[in-house]
Amino acid sequence: MAKVISFISRKGGTGKTTNAINLATTLNALGKRVVLVETDTNYTLNTLRKMEVFKSKDNGRTFDILGSQDQAVAQELTDLKNSRKTDVVVVDSAGKTTDEGIKKLCLVSDVVIVPTSLTQNDLLVTYQTVTDLAPARQLNPQLKILILPNRIHTGTNLYTVRESLKNLDAIILPIIVPQKNLFVNFSTVAAEKAYEPIAQEILKHLS
Ligand SMILES: Nc1ncnc2c1ncn2[C@@H]1O[C@H](COP(=O)(O)OP(=O)(O)O)[C@@H](O)[C@H]1O
Ligand SMILES: [Mg+2]
Repeated sequence: MAKVISFISRKGGTGKTTNAINLATTLNALGKRVVLVETDTNYTLNTLRKMEVFKSKDNGRTFDILGSQDQAVAQELTDLKNSRKTDVVVVDSAGKTTDEGIKKLCLVSDVVIVPTSLTQNDLLVTYQTVTDLAPARQLNPQLKILILPNRIHTGTNLYTVRESLKNLDAIILPIIVPQKNLFVNFSTVAAEKAYEPIAQEILKHLS
């Protein structure tokens, strides 16, 4: 059975898409059989992939990027999960955690990752996100909710990061995604080497 990792948060702009694509390209580079599902109906990752394939004939080892919608994604994932051709499905969601589709997504996910910066607003949103997911966690007790500190400025020490996040009822990953352009100027094909330690940390929660 494929494992499902879903990026979820109550509002946009927290780093779901940035981290979903970096995770997917990195896991692919590590030899995992990956499928990325984007539910943002702008389908930016699908478009970027098409442009990259158009520009270059040799893209090496790639993975599928599928498009779905929040309401439909849970059902589609149930089919993907049973496929023997996939190890990990990464879902870049777009909806609010109060939406029915996102609740269902949590029921078919193994891991939910909530990216957050340390701004007061993002921390409040993250707190609400974790609270919103409590009913899903009761229905799916295996579900792991991971908080991924994202857009952390260089110089911020880990102690400060942990202090800011300690009141959250979720697993705080002991790693940070720095505020860096190299994570933003992503490819849908080539992995960013600097993301590998982050992907390895996330992988520990998949067993
Ligand atoms: N680690 C990071 N370093 C620098 N900029 C980031 C980082 N993560 C996200 N961003 C920027 O923050 C904005 C929102 O990120 P995005 O991944 O699109 O969020 P979401 O998918 O949750 O709406 C984008 O402009 C993105 O480039
Ligand atoms: Mg997004």
